[in-house]
Amino acid sequence: MNYRVLGKSGLVVSELCLGTMTFGGATSESDSIEMIDRFLERGGNFIDTANVYVSGKSEEIVGKAIRNRRSDVVLATKVRMATGSGVNQRGLSRKHIMDGVEESLKRLQTDYIDLYQVHVVDHLTPIEETLRTLDDLVASGKVRYIGCSNFLAYQIMKSLGISDHNRYVRFISVQPQYSLVSREMDREVLPLCLEENVGVIPWAPLGGGFLTGRYERGVEPSEGRLTAKAGESRWELRSTEKNFAILDAVKDIAKEADKTPAQVALNWLIHKPGITAPIFGASTLAQYEDNIGAAGWKLSESQWERLDQVSALPSEYPYRFIEKFRREL
Ligand SMILES: NC(=O)c1ccc[n+]([C@@H]2O[C@H](COP(=O)([O-])OP(=O)(O)OC[C@H]3O[C@@H](n4cnc5c(N)ncnc54)[C@H](OP(=O)(O)O)[C@@H]3O)[C@@H](O)[C@H]2O)c1
Repeated sequence: MNYRVLGKSGLVVSELCLGTMTFGGATSESDSIEMIDRFLERGGNFIDTANVYVSGKSEEIVGKAIRNRRSDVVLATKVRMATGSGVNQRGLSRKHIMDGVEESLKRLQTDYIDLYQVHVVDHLTPIEETLRTLDDLVASGKVRYIGCSNFLAYQIMKSLGISDHNRYVRFISVQPQYSLVSREMDREVLPLCLEENVGVIPWAPLGGGFLTGRYERGVEPSEGRLTAKAGESRWELRSTEKNFAILDAVKDIAKEADKTPAQVALNWLIHKPGITAPIFGASTLAQYEDNIGAAGWKLSESQWERLDQVSALPSEYPYRFIEKFRREL
């Protein structure tokens, strides 16, 4: 396992982060605990959860699994989504964040969260209120670092500016969807994060399983994540001809490199400039064993380039136009 510093901080994380969105749901409690054990034994130290995953069960299981080795783990969780039907049981107000952190700490059986992330932007709450609250939580010791997820580039930049102006702690990481089949962040978020030294920890790095090679053109799946009616990984969104062309390249390279498609897709991401640590999911221990094999090695330069090119976004204004005027000495 290799390690990286998360954004502009001294926090060192493994190059793969273990996602726990299925823990207590599609993944049984005993398999979830076993997965965390194997991940930590293998040198992984970075675990991502959220207060709403499986209605709090994911946090409970993570808390149980790491209770006796809390300091070995960089524990990331989130706040923002609805935790009840009350009008203040959602969002990024001071009230909901303060309530949310207490509930997460209880479920996680700890007195601090390493990385507290706001799950999605909240258009109702002034971002100043959210950032001031997060700064207070860091000052109180309940939270050590803060990050955001599912923010537009201008919202990230505005937040960084407000934090700097007020001398609040700033986001050290961003958690967007990003993979070979979802490269929208190439336009603005990745360049911003590179320039501002903000860590990027992508979710759905396997496109919800699409990039593992288990799906075929024209064969609509009858089980698994891609059958979901809503969500970013549903079949209707994933099964485009471009995505299958990307998958063909992943499979070719997997054969050539004697790796699996999942390992190749994750390895491309681990070595993408600006990416700190993909957050991979695994519903079963077998999937976990496959995916963890993406760490500790590197695709050849030509294999990496082939994947980068086949998955690139189309050239578009204004990026195309502005790029022509890039001056270099
Ligand atoms: N911030 C956010 O808004 C947000 C949103 C989503 C996720 N996340 C975080 O990111 C993590 C990962 O997200 P994700 O689960 O969408 O990512 P992913 O790694 O792209 O997809 C994981 C899913 O793909 C399938 N899969 C994984 N490895 C496989 C393998 N080797 N062979 C066959 N199938 C395999 C499994 O689904 P099946 O059940 O179909 O087998 C598994 O649950 C989550 O756990 C969570 O921590 C954050």
